[in-house]
Amino acid sequence: MTSLNVTNWSDCLVCPVCGDEMLLKGERTLHCVNGHEYDAARQGYFNLLTGRGTKFREDTPEMVAARLRFLEAGHYSPIADAIVAEVPREAQFVVDAGSGPGYYLNSVVSSLEDSGQSSQSSTQPRAVALDISRAAAKHAAKISNTLSLVTDLWSVLPLAANTVDVVLNVFAPHNIEEFRRVLKRGGRVIVVTPAPHHLQELRDAETGLLGMQSGKQEKLHHTFSEGFTLLHETNVDFSLSLDTQAIADLVGMGPAGHHTSASPDEESPTESAQATDGEPRTVSCGVVLSVFQKS
Ligand SMILES: C[S@@+](CC[C@H](N)C(=O)[O-])C[C@H]1O[C@@H](n2cnc3c(N)ncnc32)[C@H](O)[C@@H]1O
Ligand SMILES: [Zn+2]
Repeated sequence: MTSLNVTNWSDCLVCPVCGDEMLLKGERTLHCVNGHEYDAARQGYFNLLTGRGTKFREDTPEMVAARLRFLEAGHYSPIADAIVAEVPREAQFVVDAGSGPGYYLNSVVSSLEDSGQSSQSSTQPRAVALDISRAAAKHAAKISNTLSLVTDLWSVLPLAANTVDVVLNVFAPHNIEEFRRVLKRGGRVIVVTPAPHHLQELRDAETGLLGMQSGKQEKLHHTFSEGFTLLHETNVDFSLSLDTQAIADLVGMGPAGHHTSASPDEESPTESAQATDGEPRTVSCGVVLSVFQKS
């Protein structure tokens, strides 16, 4: 867990139980005026899931480890660069909704801190990582000036209204009503979705990657049609040369990774990904980065 500046967190968090303001007490407890308290886990994240739990399956430690290996090898750095380019330099509060281990949020926070230092600004940007996976939240808790919160994106988010400058939403569920509530007027949601040809060679090779739904972009525009304006959309296209391990990680980090504990007779997606000829494969990547602004 990085050290968090306690005063930095006033006015931006709300308690998941009562909705009143929530503050950081010391570095390891979030509390509200009504006495609800949430202690940080040993690994630095705060588990804010309340009630009966959630019907969503969280990414497992194995899936998160595969994602980290793949991302930290730099394979998706063109996506990180494109996201950073869309974040206004003056952004002070960034939220990553469905952050996973926080690879993209880390790039954004580092770049905002660098530009703050070069302009000698006295205020440091603050960031919140939201994810339902505790294994992912543990990694996001290591990002500087970042609170890592385990929460269900389909519930009321533990964030105060009209406080957020930028919501990142990379290959993750979009809760439009909540994004609209927490964003400042003029604030942005940066959504990254796969293009139809993304990882096509791996889909053709039946590695276990799930198929792509058609009409994704139209659905996204429709979803954001109320209360948001599409500022612009960028296609980020590149190709990768991936070895067997990288392909196994790419398959294992996605939804197919939930099926890796298959019965002994059943070939798991990771094994079928490895059952290639061992030569690096060229794989096409294509994502669409859509920037929506709160009207
Ligand atoms: C495909 S991963 C993307 C993670 C990260 N944005 C990245 O690209 O590395 C989707 C993430 O959304 C999270 N997620 C899925 N459903 C969720 C929900 N209902 N609430 C919170 N997080 C959720 C998963 O745990 C996972 O970390
Ligand atoms: Zn409360």
